[in-house]
Amino acid sequence: MSGWLQPRDRDPVGRTDRPIRITVDGEPVTGIAGQSVAGILLAAGRTSWRTTRSGAPRGVFCGIGACFDCLLTVNDVPDVRACRRPAADGDEVRTQSREETA
Ligand code: FES
Repeated sequence: MSGWLQPRDRDPVGRTDRPIRITVDGEPVTGIAGQSVAGILLAAGRTSWRTTRSGAPRGVFCGIGACFDCLLTVNDVPDVRACRRPAADGDEVRTQSREETA
């Protein structure tokens, strides 16, 4: 387990992280203020959240906003790069496939 997954009350560094909650396809997922949407998804164990036309899974590839592999819908705005979008408490995230936006 990496350090950032330590519960705050047991963290020896004494972080003051503020927890946030988003929903992903209607399912509640918790994160920490300042994390990207992709960071929260990866911490929750999701490595892919989009599919290509061929059905191939996609998630984070570059992690710096260059490849557009991590697209999803945030608060009804499609094609948001999950690696670049800071998560906000209450964000409603939906996974998407190319068929939805084509
Ligand atoms: S992972 Fe490449 S743009 Fe997000």
